[in-house]
Amino acid sequence: MDNFVNVALPKGRLGEKVYDIFEKSGFECPSIREPNRKLIFENEEKKIRYFWVKPSDVAIYVERGAADIGVAGKDILLEYKPDVFELLDLDMGKCRMAVAAPKGFRDDRSRTLRVATKFSNIAADYYNSIGRDIDIIHLNGSIEIAPILGLSDVIVDIVETGATLKENDLEVLETIVPISARLISNKASFRFKSDMIEKIAGCIAEAIK
Ligand code: PRP
Repeated sequence: MDNFVNVALPKGRLGEKVYDIFEKSGFECPSIREPNRKLIFENEEKKIRYFWVKPSDVAIYVERGAADIGVAGKDILLEYKPDVFELLDLDMGKCRMAVAAPKGFRDDRSRTLRVATKFSNIAADYYNSIGRDIDIIHLNGSIEIAPILGLSDVIVDIVETGATLKENDLEVLETIVPISARLISNKASFRFKSDMIEKIAGCIAEAIK
């Protein structure tokens, strides 16, 4: 273990905005702005190293200590319950986890509800909390087409602008939980690199105020 703080950033649009915040907070790494396909960048002077990973993998890197800190969506944290500390709500990447169905859908409670989703645990926890029997159909994407093709009755998915639902004649039935990006930390790192991690979290909290 070197004395760098290793930061897992979610590759993509959200990740760019997340890096902007780190930069604004004084933890810049200019080489990250260069047009190339490298995935790891470091600033020797600031002792910080960034790497781009798939957004849904950030929590795995942090939980296992390959990254000390990272930024992950609350959806991933609720779904996979990684053993990490949640340090900050970054108030970005905002959306909601919702139940949606074709317009006019009425739930027949005498039948098991078929729910298509990428977030099987969130869906199971939600329906368990309201005492509704469901059959989960786990999919990996394009969830919206499941009820259209009769594969499921409803979906549990992320809704941001609502455009995808609208364009597929679906509507939100229920919001399960609001989602946003969170700064997370590996538990051991938080102890052994506490000075630096607390400094980063503090500067970021200040920058997003
Ligand atoms: C997410 C989600 C919806 C869409 C919602 O998909 O699964 O399909 O965004 O956004 P909207 O309300 O602004 O239309 P994503 O693009 O992450 O891809 P996915 O098909 O892999 O889920």
